[in-house]
Amino acid sequence: MFIRTEDLKYTYLPGTPYAVAALRGVNLSIARGSFTVLLGSSGCGKSTLLQHFIGLLRPAGGRVFIEGEPLGYGRRELLRVRQKVGLVFQEPEMQFFAETLFDEIAFAPRNFGLSHAAVKEQVEQALKLVGLNDPALKEKSPFHLSAGQQRLAAIASVLAMQPRALILDEPTAGLDQAAQDKLFALLQKLNRDRGITVVVVTHRLEQVVLMAHHFLVMDRGRIIMEGPATEIFSRVEVLSRCGLSLPPVTRLMHELAAAGLPFSTALFSIEEARAEINNWRARRVKR
Ligand SMILES: Nc1ncnc2c1ncn2[C@@H]1O[C@H](COP(=O)(O)OP(=O)(O)OP(=O)(O)O)[C@@H](O)[C@H]1O
Ligand SMILES: [Mg+2]
Repeated sequence: MFIRTEDLKYTYLPGTPYAVAALRGVNLSIARGSFTVLLGSSGCGKSTLLQHFIGLLRPAGGRVFIEGEPLGYGRRELLRVRQKVGLVFQEPEMQFFAETLFDEIAFAPRNFGLSHAAVKEQVEQALKLVGLNDPALKEKSPFHLSAGQQRLAAIASVLAMQPRALILDEPTAGLDQAAQDKLFALLQKLNRDRGITVVVVTHRLEQVVLMAHHFLVMDRGRIIMEGPATEIFSRVEVLSRCGLSLPPVTRLMHELAAAGLPFSTALFSIEEARAEINNWRARRVKR
């Protein structure tokens, strides 16, 4: 297991009238090299949970394990875990501060005391991975990039540490369809070709459903369901109870099946649905 939590609990503003129990005993395991999607309605605790993975928040109860070792909260231990696990925040470009794209990406490797040459090498590699390696871009202000480029730059700034796991909190928020597709293609490439463990919070189900190995469903501070897409999206009533909907194609197949048509409901893409409908038509013509 790459990341594991044991009965993780966290309360904001504890001991005050405004206390919010955001995590109420989270137990989860994320396998090394897997692509995991974390689902759950707004306010259920997703961002709070992700921040625990790199020790940005310290649990009030329970523990986090990274590669089998309990996460420690000393400065050196935190540095070590943040080298292994990179977190891309919601709207990460809000945190840009450097004058050039190069300096923005170089910040973390420099902070870790790498040599000038090693920093340059890691920055170039990260920019290449996300497709921002056009030399003209490197000297540009990160604030003058397009929204899609900024999001890729934020991912590059985390990849520059060469982490083994990449955690992303709603990475496609505010991007158009083309930029979203590009971003998901990048995540799939990092996962498949580089073996990077990917954990992503997203509502863009139709885009991730085919690439994700594992889904975790959160509700009011707990994981209430987990498994592969075929399992998760067959439990419509549980999903709707916690305010989640099916990928659109799957929803349509459920409706057609409910209307008496002999379709599988475990279909997630237009291609799969088209094949199912065409097979059915072919069978009818034969009869
Ligand atoms: N800094 C904070 N202070 C007090 N309460 C907070 C704080 N941040 C989050 N909360 C509360 O903790 C709970 C979990 O919030 P969290 O941001 O983890 O949810 P989320 O699942 O990421 O939601 P979203 O999908 O809207 O991003 C919510 O009830 C929220 O109001
Ligand atoms: Mg959130």
